[in-house]
This record gives sequence, structure tokens and C-alpha cells, in this order.
Amino acid sequence: MQIAATITEIRALVSQARKAGRTVGFVPTMGALHAGHVALIQAAVEQCDFVVVSLFVNPTQFGPGEDFEKYPRPLDQDLALCRAHGADAVFAPGRTEMYPRQNLTWVSVEKVSEPLCGRFRPGHFRGVATVCTKLFSIVGPDLAFFGQKDAQQVAVIQRMVADLNLPLEIVVCPTVREPDGLALSSRNQYLSPQERKEATVIYRALCRAAGLIRAGETDVAKITEQMHEVLRQVPALRIEYASVADAESLAELRQARGRVLVAVAGRLGSTRLIDNVVVDVGAH
Ligand code: PAF
Repeated sequence: MQIAATITEIRALVSQARKAGRTVGFVPTMGALHAGHVALIQAAVEQCDFVVVSLFVNPTQFGPGEDFEKYPRPLDQDLALCRAHGADAVFAPGRTEMYPRQNLTWVSVEKVSEPLCGRFRPGHFRGVATVCTKLFSIVGPDLAFFGQKDAQQVAVIQRMVADLNLPLEIVVCPTVREPDGLALSSRNQYLSPQERKEATVIYRALCRAAGLIRAGETDVAKITEQMHEVLRQVPALRIEYASVADAESLAELRQARGRVLVAVAGRLGSTRLIDNVVVDVGAH
């Protein structure tokens, strides 16, 4: 596995692979890799000949007072995981390699970025869309792999790729969970043992909602009330939202129909947690 810290180096590696006729898969990450990232790398290795993983904690997607400084950066461990799971190259640039000057050019995906997390993290999806555009342009992959856990990020990136005619395909991989249902996240390591136990309430609330929808309930007010009933079992959880939205546009719904995204975000102590499930109404 080769490691590139500069744009010139990673472009040279990808260009060599292309000349050898290999297809290029890309897994963009902020490092602190866990089994969810490993599943993305494995999917990329299965579907592509040459796999690039990026490790870059992107400052432009963090708001003031968020966890940019304390975000874990276990570089050696991350490199070992990438190597063990068959990545061909890692792109691990420093901040000035990615943002050498004041950034004046931004990619904003309207509407899809606005509800759900967009209401609580202003500017976050602009930072994500901008860095992904830069990374796609640097790496030039055929396929890029993202986790369903970040459902709104996926919707934003898919819309951006479609609107800007970017020449790659987005592959979405299922959320990887702990045995008790907690979705894997690099931020789970911030949780105290007590918070770790309490965090499972989010998935329980999602399951309650999904069960109701599958049983034919379409009234979103009733579904969200049931989610809140479950979430109230953990008074320490500061709920940001418990929503039912259209899975593609992310518009929040009053009646569940089509492919719906049931999503929850909340804070336990200083840790922000998000999770979601997608239910196809009518497909049961
Ligand atoms: O999901 C992440 O880890 C980040 O948002 C991404 C896509 C790597 C962009 O910085």
C-alpha cells in the first residue's frame, strides 16, 4: 500500500493505475476508522481494481465550538487497517495541502442540506460538499463509497454529483451496528460507559418507528410521538430531531409514503449522535 501526502503524489499513483487499465474506487474518510469504514473499504476492494482511502479531518465542515480539535487522529492505526483490508493507496494530506489559501469557492446543495442536521449544523454540508468535490477532482474515482449512517450526507453528495454531472458513481453501504444496535461512529469513543449504554435508545426509537410504519401507520405525528416516548426513557439525551422525511429529497413528511427516512439526532453529554433507518412504505 502506498501513502501519499500530496495531491501530486496521489494523482501520479491513480494515473499509473489507470494506465494499467484498472478501475478506481475511493473511500473518503476523516480517519479514526472503525468496522463501518472497513465495510466501505471491503466493498471498494470487491468492486474496483485500485482502491484509494483518504484520511483528512476536514476543517470546513466543523462549526465554531464543534469537535474539530479533539476529533481523534490515530494515523498509524488507520494506516494499518487500510493495509490489512486491501487498500492500494492512502491519501493523507495536511490542512494546507487541501486548503493552501483562503477558500473562496464553495459547493452548496440547496434544500437537501437544509432540514434535519442542516438546522443544527449550519455550513456543515457546504463543507462536506466542497471537500468531496475537491477529493473527487483530486482522485478521479469511478466509484466512491459512503455509509448509509450519514443519510443526509449521502443525499447531499448524490444530488451534487447529479447536478454537477460529476463522472463517478456513488455507492451506498449499509450502516454497521454494535450487537446492541448502536450505529458505529468515530464519535462513539467520546461516550462514557453510562452514555454508551444509554446511546442504544436511538436505535430503539428508530425500530419503534419502522415497526409502526411497516404495520401500516402513515401519520407522522403519531410516529414521531412514539419515537419521543422511547427517547424520553433516557432523560440525559438532548434530542435535536426525530423526523420522518422523504429518503431522496429529505423533505420532512406529514404522511409516510414512498421511501421514507426515519432519522434521529441528539446529544449525550458532549457527544452528538445521529442514526437512521429507511423504510419502503408499500413494500411490505
Ligand atoms: O463522512 C465523513 O467522514 C466526511 O464527512 C467526509 C465524507 C470524509 C468528508 O470530509
